[in-house]
Amino acid sequence: MSPSAGGLVVFLLSVQVIQSQDGWRVNYLKTDVCAAKGSEVFISCDITYPYGIYPSDIKDRFWFTKEKDGEPVDLRTDSEYSGRVRYRYNSDSDSCYLTITDVRESDSAEYKFTLMTNKPGEKYTGSPGVTLSVTDGPQRPSVSVSPSAEMLEGDSVTLTCSADANPAANYTWYKEHEDSPRASGQIFTITDFTAEHSGNYYCEAQNEMGRSNSTLRLIPFSGKSHSFFCSLTHYINNPAKE
Ligand SMILES: *[C@@H]1O[C@H](CO)[C@@H](O)[C@H](O)[C@H]1NC(C)=O
Ligand SMILES: *[C@@H]1O[C@H](CO)[C@@H](O)[C@H](O)[C@H]1NC(C)=O
Repeated sequence: MSPSAGGLVVFLLSVQVIQSQDGWRVNYLKTDVCAAKGSEVFISCDITYPYGIYPSDIKDRFWFTKEKDGEPVDLRTDSEYSGRVRYRYNSDSDSCYLTITDVRESDSAEYKFTLMTNKPGEKYTGSPGVTLSVTDGPQRPSVSVSPSAEMLEGDSVTLTCSADANPAANYTWYKEHEDSPRASGQIFTITDFTAEHSGNYYCEAQNEMGRSNSTLRLIPFSGKSHSFFCSLTHYINNPAKE
């Protein structure tokens, strides 16, 4: 009797050890999250504890993206996230939540949740984690003209447009009152410039997150001996994020 009872105890203990390694689960509700720069992001997970470990055994639990000396760094102690992260833990459903406000492009990273029990060295990290990709609609493009001083008829005139955007923007040039674009791409070259070319030009920068445009005006002047043209750039604020 007693030898077999002893064998049973050993058997149960070995099962328990295996389960304490394999019974952990951190299930992320979404593993890929996209967010626009400046918005608020919400990441959540559900925890399954192994047999024999209870929420009260958990000494610490937090979200991290980086490790230091092999140890995960709590986002709340990372100065880059200072004042922008909130944690919530629901002990009824064993659910964990992370909110990041005012997201930046540098927040694009893999976020993981880790738990540490009060037994030294015992911890579990849900890996792979949640990949956050922060995207950004184009800023107002800046436009420039070359030659930058006065232009004469017959000159070759180059209009250039550029905007900060992530993912990178594409560019389209329009002339005022025209439906079809004059050019696509950052650079629009007008060879053999004439009075017909004067007027307002729009450069539109666009990516999947939105579009915005800026205006450039080419203004004709009549001098004593010849006509010339000046350029004027002004920016129309159009952060058209849908
Ligand atoms: C520019 O990007 C937008 C959004 O990704 C796309 O819909 C559009 O077709 C692109 N235009 C050109 C000229 O490549
Ligand atoms: C440029 O932006 C303005 C302001 O939102 C908009 O009314 C206009 O239609 C845009 N122009 C082009 C060519 O997209």
